[in-house]
Amino acid sequence: MFPEHRPRRLRTTPAMRRLVSETTLRPRQLILPMFVAEGAAQPRPIASMPGVVQHTRESLRKAAVDAVQAGVGGLMLFGVPATRDAVGSGATDENGILNVALRDLRSELGDDTVLMADTCLDEFTDHGHCGLLDADGGVDNDATLKVYAEMGVAQAEAGAHLLGPSGMMDGQVGVIRQALDDAGHQDTGILAYSAKYASAFYGPFREAVDSQLKGDRKSYQQDPGNAREALREIELDVAEGADAIMIKPALSYLDVLRAAAEVSPVPVAAYNISGEYAMVEAAAANGWLDRERTILEVLTSIRRAGADMVLTYWATEAAAWLD
Ligand code: PBG
Repeated sequence: MFPEHRPRRLRTTPAMRRLVSETTLRPRQLILPMFVAEGAAQPRPIASMPGVVQHTRESLRKAAVDAVQAGVGGLMLFGVPATRDAVGSGATDENGILNVALRDLRSELGDDTVLMADTCLDEFTDHGHCGLLDADGGVDNDATLKVYAEMGVAQAEAGAHLLGPSGMMDGQVGVIRQALDDAGHQDTGILAYSAKYASAFYGPFREAVDSQLKGDRKSYQQDPGNAREALREIELDVAEGADAIMIKPALSYLDVLRAAAEVSPVPVAAYNISGEYAMVEAAAANGWLDRERTILEVLTSIRRAGADMVLTYWATEAAAWLD
């Protein structure tokens, strides 16, 4: 008798496949990244991210409510300021667009969702780097930490539940944790972008936030070829007080995600980033991929690799499909 083993038995009917399915994908596991532009009169489309916009304060509020009603687990906010300077003043100013928008959403949504903020300077600096520059034009790690601490406290005060330090400065989690505690925000958490790679897939995001960056981020973001380094970054962030960690991007780094999930004592997030979104949208628009199936396969794969939560620009739409 051959074949002796018949794995296909478990695939015979939809009910059988449902019974043996290993990976869950639920709306609550999805986090929606959102952009809000200072002074925007109407939502501005982002050409390289069809379907994603730079929101006005008002359209942001509406889209956030829609996302929460669809059951998404959280919102991650990015600000696009009207003016920029060398030190990213808009990031720490309580009237800066990101802080204003956080206050809008917290008053609209209260604790109905988990409100997160990007704790990074690149959107706010006129040179586009994630930190302050030293005299030689390099990114000054320790000077930047002071600003991150101030930015983190401003975001906590504006109503963020979780801060997302994404600048890859050494010590950023510890410094922000200390500043939050000193300011009485011991319940504000940190979702640390622990392993963040210097990726070409951020391309569309740079358009999304009108990035001013000229060079690259290779002196602070990780080399795409390195995996071991990611585990060290995770270990350090957890030791410094991270409440959850993130791997970013997702699709080209599923091995890193799997390794992180195996060792992390805290929840693990993965960011299905702008370039990953754009690839699927472009192919689907050409009729080359079945859009809905592809999106669900992408998100399921990221969950299978070990992410407890997935940041994705499809969060609201996918949540509706999953419902
Ligand atoms: C930095 C930041 C970036 C992204 C999230 N936070 C850009 C970068 O590091 O260059 C990228 C997100 C995406 O591509 O979807 N504030």
